[in-house]
Amino acid sequence: MTIPNLNHLTIAVVGATGAVGAEFLKIVEQRHPGLHSLKLLASSRSAGTKLTVNGKEFTVEETTEDSFQGVDIAFISASTEASRHWAPIAVAAGAVVIDDSSAFRMQEDVPLVVPEVNGADVTWHQGIIAIPNCSTTPLVMVAHPIHRVNPIKRIIADTYQSVSGAGGAAVQELREQSDALLKGQSVTPRHQPKQIGFNVIPQIDSFLDNGYTREEQKMIDESRKIMHAPDIRVSATCVRVPVMVSHSAGIHMELERAMDTNEIRALLMDMPGLTVLDDTGAGDYPMPWDVAGEDDVFVGRIRKDASDLNGIALWIVSDNLRKGAALNSIQIAEELVARECLKPGSSPKPKFDFGEPESLIAAEYRMDLEYFRANVDELLPEYRGRFVAVINQTVIDSDVDYVPLMDRVHEKYGDRPIVIEELPPRPRIYHNHTTFRGENSQAMLGKEGRGPDSV
Ligand SMILES: NC(=O)c1ccc[n+]([C@@H]2O[C@H](COP(=O)([O-])OP(=O)(O)OC[C@H]3O[C@@H](n4cnc5c(N)ncnc54)[C@H](OP(=O)(O)O)[C@@H]3O)[C@@H](O)[C@H]2O)c1
Repeated sequence: MTIPNLNHLTIAVVGATGAVGAEFLKIVEQRHPGLHSLKLLASSRSAGTKLTVNGKEFTVEETTEDSFQGVDIAFISASTEASRHWAPIAVAAGAVVIDDSSAFRMQEDVPLVVPEVNGADVTWHQGIIAIPNCSTTPLVMVAHPIHRVNPIKRIIADTYQSVSGAGGAAVQELREQSDALLKGQSVTPRHQPKQIGFNVIPQIDSFLDNGYTREEQKMIDESRKIMHAPDIRVSATCVRVPVMVSHSAGIHMELERAMDTNEIRALLMDMPGLTVLDDTGAGDYPMPWDVAGEDDVFVGRIRKDASDLNGIALWIVSDNLRKGAALNSIQIAEELVARECLKPGSSPKPKFDFGEPESLIAAEYRMDLEYFRANVDELLPEYRGRFVAVINQTVIDSDVDYVPLMDRVHEKYGDRPIVIEELPPRPRIYHNHTTFRGENSQAMLGKEGRGPDSV
């Protein structure tokens, strides 16, 4: 897939010296080596720090009211308070804000976007687009491809979240506590609510009246918003574990109808941005150390839920600093450029009443799916490996995504379309964990921490 070019834009990064900011700049070098018009911003603590990006040296500046003049896109990844303060100022100066905090995620007029799932939502932004919490993103990446063919009724997610999700200072705290505990010394928690060295903490963020933590409530609310699926029942338990980078989660989903694990596996393999690593015979499943530094969300341990006829269980791992934060933000910028909607209000906010047409389609889709899969090479040899949709025996388009596709289906075929198949490009499948880089885990083991933050 060609990555839309961002080189003509001026991009500001608020929080350039933080854990997410550092990863952001690394991804800029990997995906946009010709991007040179950057403004690196932080608080007064880091003003004057020199950072080199794409071979050019930049001086980090303190963020001020004037920082956003001439900026096209402002990425804000600092703290919720900083986002609340700086985002309106950046929008007033004419920038589109892509915000990493929880400040605006559930606001009606703010799209909350994971491009592979709801990329079309960027078109109705009013100046601010939010990215989800770093545990929500991998959850919707696996839930979405399943939900659109077999509606999900209920999700239970239990997370195992790394310390880098709480910022650079929490990474440093884990290193210090581990060192001290190995020497038999006692430790005093500073950035986590309890000791994190050689321990797990069933609390991320503060507790709400309903007994859930804010982090858990974010997973519940955000996943429904991104998937346009307010009826899915979601429960989560979010746990901090002594891992440097990458969040993991055990997920249970109750579906409308029972589904074969091979069918689930095929759907997940077809989802862009997902890698299926699921060969228990060979001992292959994703783990946080290996996935750190990778772009994809990894999924393994795919199995029928032993406690629910219509249920499935699986295990997901993703790099919280990349797909959980920085990469997702950059993909949103690319989506804005590809859809030519940098200017706010490019299109009106659609009504999210996808429930009925989607389940009608799912019913018809079920009947044809097996036949189509068995005969895909014969039926569509010229489209093999491309992203196509076949509707009522007609090839509609290539490189479409789901929401505009559904609009086109309604336009062309009226109320009861039959979506026979969509074929995204085949993702990579790893069979041997030595293929992994684990880059972020290794880097974090030697990284000095920064100021405290919440996730
Ligand atoms: N870590 C994750 O996995 C993750 C995932 C999703 C979302 N997020 C969100 O991303 C944001 C940043 O997280 P992080 O892990 O990168 O934190 P971090 O390592 O603590 O870095 C915070 C960054 O924000 C800057 N900053 C703090 N207050 C500021 C202010 N008032 N004005 C301008 N800059 C300010 C800091 O600058 P100084 O160097 O000057 O202190 C630093 O560059 C948070 O909102 C977090 O919730 C994080």
